[in-house]
Order: sequence, then C-alpha cells, then structure tokens
Amino acid sequence: MGFGVLGVFLGLLLEVSTHGPHAVPRTSWRHQDLDLMEFSEPGIFNYSTLLLSEKRDALYVGAREAIFELSKKNVTVRNNKVQWTVAENPMMMCTLKGKSKERDCLNYIRVLQVVDEERLYVCGTHAFQPQCDYLNLADFSLDGRPEDGRGKCSFDPSQSFTTVMVDGELYSGTAYNFLGSEPIISRYSPYQSLLRTEYSTSWLNEPSFVFADVIREGRNRAYGEDDKIYYFFTEVSVEYEFFGKLLIPRVARVCKGDLGGQRTLQKKWTSFLKAKLVCSMPELNFVFNVVHDVFILKESDWRETVIYGVFTSQWGNVGLSAVCAYNMTAVEDVFSKGKYMQKATVEQSHTKWVRYNGITPFPRPGACINNLMRQQNISSSLHLPDKTLQFVKDHPLLEDPVLPIGNGPRLITKDVNYTQIVVERVRALDGNIYDVIFTGTDKGVLHKSVVFEGDVHIVEETQLLKNSEPIKNLVLSSETRSLYAGSDSGVVQSPTAFCGRYPSCNDCVLARDPYCAWDSHTAACVNIFDASGQQPGNLIQSLNGDADKCPSVSGLSQKDYQHVTVKPGSSVELPCLVPSNLAQVMWKSNGSVLTEASRFQLIGENGLLIYSVAPEDQGHYECWSVEWAPAAGKNFSRLLAGYVLTLDLPPGAPQQAGHVTTTLGSQETSSTHATEGNGKTDRAPLTSAFAPPSFTASVLFTSPPQTDSSLTLPPSSTIKFQSKQHFPPSSNAPRPDSQDPAAEYLQHNNSIALLFLFLLFFLLFLAALAYNCYMQYLPAPCLRMRAALLGSHKSAHQPEYRACEAGLMEASATEKINMTAQPTQNGSQTTQNLRALRDTGYETEPECGNGRIPSHGFGDDSPSQEKPFDVDCESQPIEFADADEPYC
Ligand SMILES: *[C@@H]1O[C@H](CO)[C@@H](O)[C@H](O)[C@H]1NC(C)=O
Ligand SMILES: *[C@@H]1O[C@H](CO)[C@@H](O)[C@H](O)[C@H]1NC(C)=O
Ligand SMILES: *[C@@H]1O[C@H](CO)[C@@H](O)[C@H](O)[C@H]1NC(C)=O
Ligand SMILES: *[C@@H]1O[C@H](CO)[C@@H](O)[C@H](O)[C@H]1NC(C)=O
Ligand SMILES: *[C@@H]1O[C@H](CO)[C@@H](O)[C@H](O)[C@H]1NC(C)=O
Ligand SMILES: *[C@@H]1O[C@H](CO)[C@@H](O)[C@H](O)[C@H]1NC(C)=O
Repeated sequence: MGFGVLGVFLGLLLEVSTHGPHAVPRTSWRHQDLDLMEFSEPGIFNYSTLLLSEKRDALYVGAREAIFELSKKNVTVRNNKVQWTVAENPMMMCTLKGKSKERDCLNYIRVLQVVDEERLYVCGTHAFQPQCDYLNLADFSLDGRPEDGRGKCSFDPSQSFTTVMVDGELYSGTAYNFLGSEPIISRYSPYQSLLRTEYSTSWLNEPSFVFADVIREGRNRAYGEDDKIYYFFTEVSVEYEFFGKLLIPRVARVCKGDLGGQRTLQKKWTSFLKAKLVCSMPELNFVFNVVHDVFILKESDWRETVIYGVFTSQWGNVGLSAVCAYNMTAVEDVFSKGKYMQKATVEQSHTKWVRYNGITPFPRPGACINNLMRQQNISSSLHLPDKTLQFVKDHPLLEDPVLPIGNGPRLITKDVNYTQIVVERVRALDGNIYDVIFTGTDKGVLHKSVVFEGDVHIVEETQLLKNSEPIKNLVLSSETRSLYAGSDSGVVQSPTAFCGRYPSCNDCVLARDPYCAWDSHTAACVNIFDASGQQPGNLIQSLNGDADKCPSVSGLSQKDYQHVTVKPGSSVELPCLVPSNLAQVMWKSNGSVLTEASRFQLIGENGLLIYSVAPEDQGHYECWSVEWAPAAGKNFSRLLAGYVLTLDLPPGAPQQAGHVTTTLGSQETSSTHATEGNGKTDRAPLTSAFAPPSFTASVLFTSPPQTDSSLTLPPSSTIKFQSKQHFPPSSNAPRPDSQDPAAEYLQHNNSIALLFLFLLFFLLFLAALAYNCYMQYLPAPCLRMRAALLGSHKSAHQPEYRACEAGLMEASATEKINMTAQPTQNGSQTTQNLRALRDTGYETEPECGNGRIPSHGFGDDSPSQEKPFDVDCESQPIEFADADEPYC
C-alpha cells in the first residue's frame, strides 16, 4: 500500500516548495553585461577538470582529448596545449562493445594532480580503457608510457568519480570495471601495494562520488594521530527500507597510514568507516538526500575546519537546493566515538541494519593507529588483531549521523539545482570573518551568499556561462581574486566581486557584499582588497545593510523630473527599474502613495502603466525603491525617478505625440541607468534607452527604444520603454501587476502542482487497486470481479481483508498527523524523518501480519516509534507484495 505514504510525502514536498524558507539573490548580473574572460577551442568540449597551480601562475584544464595550460590571471591566454587521443585499436574495441564512437570512445581527461614541481599525473577515460600518464610541465608533453588507469579514473565519461593526490599517492573513488558496477575506493602508491575497499554492498552500494580530500592532523600529532582522507558520496541506503532506492549522502574516511590487514582484510582498508551526512529542514521534515559537491574550508587547526556541501533532494522536481556546513570536530567525533550498525537477519531471508549494542573490540575498529595502540605493540594496521579487522569488515557503517552546524541548512534556494560549491573566508572591514559561499548551478549561474549572524544573504546571482548548461567544476583563487568555472563548452573566469557595478552608496551598502565598500572620497563602490592602501575612515561598509551610514543624497530638484506629455485617452508607462530583487517599488503621485486600487493604473515590474490618461491623472509621479534590510531591521527608501505628466491638448494636431524632455541630475542618471538590466558594463553612455537626454516615447510594445523624435502616436497606444531582463525566474512575460514575481510564480506552480498531484494520486490509486486486486490482497467485491475476470476461486482470507482495509484509512490519517506534527528538537530529526517514511513502509506491521517480529530494532529514541501504530496491511512493503504468502 505504497500510495498513502507516497501521498503524505508528496504533500510534504509541495508544502516545502511553497512554504519553505528560501533566499532570493539581491542582484542579478547578466552574462552579456559582464565581459568575463572565457576560454574554449573549436572542436574541443568537456572542460570539466580544473587544477590551479600555486607555484606556476597556471590553470590546468583537462578537456576531451586535450590538456591546456592557461594563465591564471587571464584564462583567454593559452600558454600550452597537449593532445591525448585514442589510438585506432582501443577505439575499435570500444565501439565493438557497443559504445558510441563520437561520444564514449574518446579520451576524457578526468584526473589532473600535482606529483611534484615538474610533473602532473593525468588520467583519461581513453575509450573505456582508462589510462594515466605523467605530464612534464617543462615542455608540456606526456611521458608516453601510459599506465593502467583502472580504479583511478572512471571508464565511463559520464560516471562520477573523485581523486586526490596526497604525498605522491593517489586516492580515488570510482568504478573498477567496464560496466561501472564495481565501486572502489583505493590508493595507488609508487611505494606500496594497492589498497582498496572490500567488494560488498555494505561498504559501497552504488555510490556517486563527489569529493575527496585530506585532513592533516596537525595538533593531534601529539597523540600520534594519522592524517585522514575523507570521501563524500551519495549511495543507495542499506539501512532504510523504502520503495525503490533511497539515496543517502555519506562521508567516509580512511587513514593515510593504513597498510591493510595481515590475514583478514589483506590489501584492503582496515580503516574504512562511513557515516550519514544529514542535511535537512527539521521544521518541515524535509530531507536533502543527494550531495553534489563538497568544499573543505581548511584552517591550520583542523578543529576550525568546516565542510560545506551542496545538496538536493532525490525528488528533483521539488526544485530546492541546500547548502549545509559541518564542523570537522563533529565529523571526527562520529568516527571516533560513534556506534556501529550491524546487519541482522529477520525472518530467514530478509536482512536489516540495526545498531550494534555489543562490546566493540579493542583497538576500536576503523581507528587510525595512534600512540596508545603503539604502546600495545600495534605499530601499523598489519598488527591489528583479527577480531578488530573482522569487526570493521562487517561493520563499516556508523549509526550516528554527522549533523550540520545549526542542525539545518545554511542556505536553501528554490528553483535551482546547485552542482558546485567553493567557499572563501573574508575579513570584512568590521574585523569579522565571513564565509562567502559560491554555488554554481546546472544552468550556468553562480550564486554568491554570505552568512551573517546565522542568516544567509544571497548577494548576487551571475550568469557565468553564456549558455544554460551545468557548471561542472568551480575553483577559486584568493590570489587572483577570481573564480574559474569549467563546463562542457569552455572555461570562464570571473572576479569574486563586482563592486564597481554598484552605482550609489545605497546600493553598495545594501548589497551586503563583504568584498565591497563605498569610498566616499571617490564616490565609488570599491573592492576592499583593492583599496587596502585606503584610509579605512573613507570606506563605508555595513554587512547588515545599514545604508543610513551613507552620506545623505538630496532629492530630485524640479528640473530633474522627466516631463511626459501624452494625448488624452492614450496609455503611458512611466519606466522605473529597481536594481535589487529584494526591493519593492513604490509610486507616489502628487506626494501620496499610489495603490493598486486606483483605477486605470498598474504598477508593473518595469514601471507604472496608466491606461487612458485623463486630465485628473496629470501631476507629479515619483518612483521609489523600498528595500527591507532584515539584518538592519529597517526599510531604506530612495527615489529612482520622477516624472511630470501633462496632457497634450493641442486643438489642431491630434496625431502628434508629445515630446518628452529629460534632464536628469547626474547622480540619478547613473543610478537609474545602472538599474536597467541590472548593471551595464560601463556606466557612461546615456544613449541607452532608459534615460536619453531628450527623446520621444516610442510606440508599440515590440519596438526598440529610439531617439527618433518624429513618431506618431495613435491615441490608444502605449508608451513603452525598454524592459528589464530577468533571469533565471522562468517567465519573461511582462507582469501585469506589482506582485512579487516569485510569489506569482509560486501560485502558478501551486495550482499546476496540485492538479498534477491529484492526477498522480488518482493514477497511483488505480494502479494500486488494480495490482492488489489482481494479487488478491483486497476484499470481496474486488475478488469477485477478479474471479469473474480470471476465473479464480481463491478467497480464503476475506475476513482479514476487511480489517485491513479499515486499518488502511486510519493509518493514512495517523501518519499524516504524525509526520507533520513531529516534534523537532534536534538534528536526529532526519533519522526520524527517514524512519517515519520507512516505518510507514515496513517496520511496524504486527497485527494482521503473518507473525513477523515487530522490529523496533534500532532508533529507540525516535518519537515515531513510540506512537502506537495500529497500522497493519498498510505497512506491506511493495517489494513483498508479490510474495506468495497471503499477507493480511
Ligand atoms: C561533453 O560535451 C558535450 C557537448 O557539450 C555534451 O553533449 C556531453 O554530454 C559532454 N559529455 C560529458 C561526459 O560530459
Ligand atoms: C566546532 O566544534 C568545536 C567543538 O564543539 C568548536 O570548538 C569549534 O569552534 C567549532 N568550529 C566551528 C568552525 O564551528
Ligand atoms: C611489546 O613488545 C615488547 C617486545 O617485544 C614486549 O616486551 C612487551 O611486553 C609488549 N607489550 C605488550 C603490551 O604487548
Ligand atoms: C533540477 O534537476 C532536476 C533533475 O535533474 C530537474 O528535473 C529539474 O527541472 C531541475 N530544476 C531546475 C530548476 O533546474
Ligand atoms: C495632482 O494635482 C493637480 C493639481 O495640483 C491635480 O490637477 C491632479 O489631478 C493631481 N493628480 C493626481 C494624480 O492626483
Ligand atoms: C517596509 O516596507 C515594506 C514595503 O513597502 C512594508 O510592507 C513594510 O511594512 C515596511 N516595514 C517597516 C518596518 O517600515
């Protein structure tokens, strides 16, 4: 009876996507306005591997069949290139195995790692026969003595993998075979033999690897602790039962000094342990269960290290992405103190994972060798007792999850799929350190967010890539203050901040960008790292967006008003573009605030539209931006544009349009100008559509703005100015009212989603009914019908069916309440959520089951477990529905 649960779940998704918290970027920058540095070569694609060289001022790029060395300062400068193609023979073998010659049977360069100052280690998929080679940096040539790349690089260019080079040894997570079905975490070393994971689903179960890196122990060296390599991936859970595959984000680790076991776990990791990474919204019972990328913000003391991850939900249609941050100490604690899980067999064939409550052997299974063990004469993993090794072999999974800092996501965004993340720590002018989070999306957009007093603020969104394609790789260089994004079509370099594009102090401060400050001397928004020689007193920065710190700006003088003259009965749109997505527009006429209620007037996204202008509509109009700065707890208003509307009533020339003469003050011109399109490359030209020194309003919605002054304007036409380009919110259509675009989108979304949901439910219901009917799980009428159709006579279990059916309805209701009203105390919430999902599926069936044990095996702390579950057949798992025994 899957649909009840699924329904509750889908309901939750809907609830989350409509009511959940999510941030909106304050500023949107368009690609065409930014003039970013880009690199690509004709005929070469998949620029997905990036490596920044600290020493050589270089960005190495691994693409399809080519490796480039670009200048770190300017990626349009290509310093070197080497091609690595696939020979005839392997190519033929690849095509013979049914792979595409144009797509799969090429050499996708996927590993670029520094070996030493002179060489890089390079691996490519090489037509499904991965190979690795050394790249000499002196002459940028490959050694030409390729090594077997199995286990270091994926076979399939579209399959996930990760590698990291630590002290000359390559740690990787990838697939070990052609089919990609044998996952492996391994270490290749020039000095010692290969070390790898056991081939078992309890070690790795269809993982998608996203990241791996080393954490040096530093201060822990006193205890003789080892450096550790952490792996991050999403895999299919073994511990939860669910309809189909439930994905779980994981962190796993191995010790650098691991040498494998002597008898048990020979040439296998003796230190492989993994735990669940939790990224959830406890208050909405929503779980982000797919990790896409991880960035480790390393500090010299590993305790201060923070792990950032981007997550989405397995149910991608919700359109939510989240960033969760983890304290390294918490991760370390889980690995060094966490409880293990173990596989238990229930009812002969079925296994489930429960907490291991027995005595754990000493030394702790999976722990790295430390001084304490050395005192016990265990100086390497080869000396570990078999008991410990056997235990870790059978119990690689820890029960305790790794909870995020603050028990919830740092950032939740709607309608984006984050694919990449990098984080930089910035010391702002207030002396505090802020983590600036850069996240790349599957549409080529970059979000920049800053965490301020626990709240996140999305400073800006930037269309980094020309096309709407995923950002495949993102790296940051603090030295060049640039971000580098790799995609299928090229490499883009972008500065980490666009301070110079904020035209006014207000804008500069409200942006709350830790990199930017207003220089009151030069009256410009500057990057604080460029202005480091500046007297700090001249720089205005307020990370809470308190724009009151700005010098006050005098309002518009009479001559700054734009004069608009229109024919009676025609329509006019007074343009006004708000530079910030967080600001609201407010119109005043004759000094009083206009409301939507006024007839014949519409406050749109691009300006004020007045239909059928009448004599009483004449007067002064002012457009104000009102921006709420939550961290400052204040509204900041500023005047963006002013108009004087007059009617043109010449008796003799009814077809002549009025001339609009504008004389904007220079301050206002630049600010209003920059608002349009959210920031032009250069602020100088006034020939742009918005504020020409003198123009006649152009006609027709489609016609581009013109400066031609001899246009005729039919009485019913609308004066229309250039409209603001918005991305990525999907709709480009002009909005008829001043409703927040996001809000409107939501409502639209909502009704569609509801309809969709309804249909889905109905179909599911029909399917379930038909199935259960067919399988004889449902009561009499159904069986009679089945009998009529199939001529079957099996009806032995009718009474039970009835009881079950009654239970079914109740159960759905109970569950619903239970799931939405669950207490939300702490981060083990996720466990509970998942449990709740699973509970409804299987674990708590007892009454009219067939004598299965009521398995409350693990998670006794879960409130959902305490609830008396009088659910019965309802809890039949789908995967058992086709078993022969007549359940319920
Ligand atoms: C490589 O790039 C091409 C062209 O953009 C794209 O269609 C393809 O999916 C990419 N392949 C991989 C494995 O990323
Ligand atoms: C991580 O937690 C430890 C112990 O609770 C604390 O000392 C440390 O400051 C935390 N680090 C961060 C970055 O939050
Ligand atoms: C360790 O080995 C030494 C020498 O082989 C021996 O004297 C000592 O008793 C051993 N210690 C333990 C704890 O086994
Ligand atoms: C996010 O990805 C999912 C699955 O790939 C897709 O269905 C969805 O449309 C994407 N959402 C957005 C906003 O790009
Ligand atoms: C503004 O005031 C003028 C006279 O001062 C009046 O004629 C006009 O109707 C007013 N306009 C609006 C929109 O209130
Ligand atoms: C700030 O401005 C918004 C929009 O005009 C308004 O709804 C809100 O009440 C204002 N808040 C305060 C505290 O003034």
